[in-house]
Amino acid sequence: MPADRSFYITTPIFYPSDVPHIGHGYTEVAADVIARWHRQAGDDTWSLTGTDEHGQKMLRTATANDMGPREWADKLVQESWIPLLETLDIANDDFIRTTQPRHEQGVAAFIQKLYDTGFIEAGDYEGFYCVGCEEYKQTADLVTGTGRYDGELVCAIHSIPVELSKERNYFFRMSRFTDRLLALYEERPDFVQPESARNEVVQFVRRGLDDLSISRSTFDWGVPVPWDQRHVVYVWFDALLNYVTAVGYGEDEATFARRWPAVHLVGKDILRFHAVIWPAMLMAAGLEVPRQVFAHGWLLVGGEKMSKSKATGIAPSQITDTFGSDAFRYSFMRAIPFGQDGSFSWEDLAARYQAELANGFGNLASRVIAMITRYRDGAVPAAGEPSERDLGIRQTVAAAAADADAAIDRMAPHEALAAIWRIVEELNGYITLEQPWVLAKDPADADRLDAVLATAAEGLRALAVLLSPVLTRSTATLWRALGAEAALGALHEQPLREAGEWGLLPAGARVSPLEPLFPRIDAA
Ligand code: ME8
Ligand code: MG
Repeated sequence: MPADRSFYITTPIFYPSDVPHIGHGYTEVAADVIARWHRQAGDDTWSLTGTDEHGQKMLRTATANDMGPREWADKLVQESWIPLLETLDIANDDFIRTTQPRHEQGVAAFIQKLYDTGFIEAGDYEGFYCVGCEEYKQTADLVTGTGRYDGELVCAIHSIPVELSKERNYFFRMSRFTDRLLALYEERPDFVQPESARNEVVQFVRRGLDDLSISRSTFDWGVPVPWDQRHVVYVWFDALLNYVTAVGYGEDEATFARRWPAVHLVGKDILRFHAVIWPAMLMAAGLEVPRQVFAHGWLLVGGEKMSKSKATGIAPSQITDTFGSDAFRYSFMRAIPFGQDGSFSWEDLAARYQAELANGFGNLASRVIAMITRYRDGAVPAAGEPSERDLGIRQTVAAAAADADAAIDRMAPHEALAAIWRIVEELNGYITLEQPWVLAKDPADADRLDAVLATAAEGLRALAVLLSPVLTRSTATLWRALGAEAALGALHEQPLREAGEWGLLPAGARVSPLEPLFPRIDAA
């Protein structure tokens, strides 16, 4: 890959009406893993996350808490949303808030442009609105409530009543883009992924698109419509624009040209906004559509989508306080085929921590470093002539590295981890078969012991690099203990697409003692 390949990835910008739960953490981690992979591979990478601060949901939550919407957003962003990034070890390049001037100016410029070019006109609208979704709902998206809302029409996603709303608004003439969107999905099958998401979107657009109400006049928490200040811009029209206002739209053309278009990672709840409305908006403005919209599945708890409105939310820190951020990042990326729903359970998390991280990877690292310390006085030996088995390990490493890179390209981090884990398993098996502790007893086996220890150390070198986008902390610890930092430089500077090459850790590298990477966790 050329070093100047541009890769721009975004998360949704979240409503900071409430504190984050592990569903938000899941999206953040996935985007971060993919961004770190590309960044370390030398691609010109940019990763964006942020908060969506306008609209009725924000206004109402703030009011319910006796605060103004701006103060409420400031408080939640500072106290919860920025700290979330720290908790999960997210290395985002930027954080956009829709209340920032750079964004509000871009929104005003964009909507004015569409107005001037005839893509926006006034009209009347009456429909059922879900404040949870911030969206007018079709009858097909509504169900009859139960329990507290028995018999009422409720949103199928939020299970809260919709509100009948009638307004004179401005409309984006989205209906004009039905055919162009269908052509886009047809010509670029990768534009919406996974396949299930693509099918859903195509089916939806085939039914024909309506125009979209994009202003509100019944409240004023939003970006004012430039030509009619009695209205504010509809929160989704405003929010989607973050992806371009954050990279210089209308302000810094060079940066915009360098970064755009983006890969948008979103939950499947907001797929249509990203795969239908957003590209139509961009087409109307004469801008390039996104590179891809990838919809991941929902984290389920007890069979239901985890959500704050249903009080099933688990805070990410509840997991990281006990298991650490690496275990959070690993278990969600490994356990859930990316694009499908996945059930979270503490039992599964604890089992993976023990079996895969502690016994599988952590133990391998400890054993190899301990043996180099004991049998070779802490210096990685020279490999000498490789045996068939040594060559087998080399091949495993090379194939795993290539497979993992290809998996990341297809937005399949679970497959990337499965590929890399073949190295963990093969190396553990190799050590069991070679029995270095037996070789160490007979001076005649000294060359063989050198080869085995060198092969294992080199395998760990590759593992540290390949796992560093996921296991950010433990791989950094391992890297130093392997003596690789001194011999090869910082871990994050190791070119990821060359991680599968062999013989990079030089003989003579000095290992140092390694505490267990994944210490035993006593059940509370
Ligand atoms: O929709 N499982 O914000 P939001 C997996 N502001 N992911 C989940 C999840 C779950 N149970 N719950 C939430 C909005 N998410 C808009 C977005 S973008 C221009 C504007 C994640 O705070 C997932 O990424 O409701 C989902 O799409 C997002 O949080 C919704 O966050
Ligand atoms: Mg939501």
